[in-house]
Amino acid sequence: EKGGWSSFMAKEISEEPDAVANTILGRVQDGLVRLTEFEPLGDDVIANIDRIVVVACGTAAYAGMLGKYAIEAWARVPVDVELAHEFRYRNPILTDRTLVISISQSGETMDTLMAVKFASESGAKVVSVCNTHGATIPRESDAVVYTHAGPEVAVASTKAFVAQVTALYLIGLHIAGVRGTLSDELIRENVAELQAVPAKISEVLVTSQSIKQLAHWMTDTQSVLFLGRHVGYPIALEGALKLKELAYIHAEGFAAGELKHGPIALIEPGQVVFVIVPSPRDPNSLHKKVVSNIQEIRARGARVIAIAEKGDAAVLPFADEVIPIPLAGSFFEPLLAVIPLHIFGMELSAAKGLDVDQPRNLAKSVTVE
Ligand code: M6R
Repeated sequence: EKGGWSSFMAKEISEEPDAVANTILGRVQDGLVRLTEFEPLGDDVIANIDRIVVVACGTAAYAGMLGKYAIEAWARVPVDVELAHEFRYRNPILTDRTLVISISQSGETMDTLMAVKFASESGAKVVSVCNTHGATIPRESDAVVYTHAGPEVAVASTKAFVAQVTALYLIGLHIAGVRGTLSDELIRENVAELQAVPAKISEVLVTSQSIKQLAHWMTDTQSVLFLGRHVGYPIALEGALKLKELAYIHAEGFAAGELKHGPIALIEPGQVVFVIVPSPRDPNSLHKKVVSNIQEIRARGARVIAIAEKGDAAVLPFADEVIPIPLAGSFFEPLLAVIPLHIFGMELSAAKGLDVDQPRNLAKSVTVE
């Protein structure tokens, strides 16, 4: 039931803090991650894997991309993220040292299921991240890490996405613990950051109210671009997908570094560009690079909407609008930056008088290939 909300999507966005909190619940002991779900696989399997392949579709694949950044950084295992339907039909190389991680909210997505079956038959171990108990994909897998987002009804995935990222981060920290690639102290630091995310999302939910006005102003907009770098890149893709499916607007997400390799030619006066800005405290100084990307597009007349850390003074002179997010470690910023984009997709759909929960031509679970 919608329980007073205007749509299931509105309700589900409001549940994003709980989706993260409940997915962490019971999986942290003494500040470290303990995933009993991995027990059937045995620690030696985790110790011996030489590659991880993530298979998923749509929003779940973007969660997978964030998982790649985190798992590679923490567990030092190479991770490839593949769209399940592309992976399945190109004769991929799998061995008994490959761990396949599938991600699916419904657990019934046929493209992902076919990839899981194929991986199992090829001798790889399969761990699934799934939000639906007893669904087909978990039943075909060697182990399951359930996300506890609660049932998701709206076609556009929101709370399941943040729960999937949470589960992947827990998996990354678990594997890092088993393989000894991260000290207990660093694992604890990251766990604490993750545990702090729900309260920060709640903060973003409050400060993002202004997005409604933005959406109203943009009902006639034909095209919107999204730029992000590093963990901001999957968020740019997610923001664009939400606009396509919810508001039927042409939208593209780009890696900000790719701008000058082509996409900057799209920038003309009035083009709306959302930019996900890394923290000015980013250890790789990506902040500076993204700010200079903003300057480049601004000089060509783009209308810049920046999602940036609270108090980031460097973006202010160049952005038409700044949506502030609380301070967080770099892997945790995307869980905050995605919230305004979920709200924006929903508000734009509503402002255009469209069906927020059931966009045209789409089904909640895609059970055909
Ligand atoms: O149930 P799944 O997580 O397997 O679904 C995957 C995609 O179909 C899904 O995320 C889709 O992209 C959403 N409608 C995006 O909001």
